[in-house]
Amino acid sequence: MADWIEVCEFDDIDEEDVVRFDAGDRTFAVYRDTDGGVWATDGLCTHEMVHLADGLVMDDTIECPKHNGRFNYQTGEALRAPVCVNLKTYPARIRDGIVEIEI
Ligand code: FES
Repeated sequence: MADWIEVCEFDDIDEEDVVRFDAGDRTFAVYRDTDGGVWATDGLCTHEMVHLADGLVMDDTIECPKHNGRFNYQTGEALRAPVCVNLKTYPARIRDGIVEIEI
């Protein structure tokens, strides 16, 4: 069964930015958009094992730092080669100023 778990304070993520979040042996990337929304995906690029929290957020996309592949971080859709496998996404929300994701 999925659980909501705390990631960080909302203010800890800059607007149009991403942070790394680890839980057990899993790793995630948690994003803040420009409209006050939060989003979560698997942390590692589906091309190679590179963490997307080191990548660049632009609008609703994340660009991988290694080969510049891109995903839509809201839908997980792979947008630009060399990535061709979509990224898994997770529900994210803000409660009392705390970002939570459901995993
Ligand atoms: S590792 Fe992400 S595009 Fe290659």
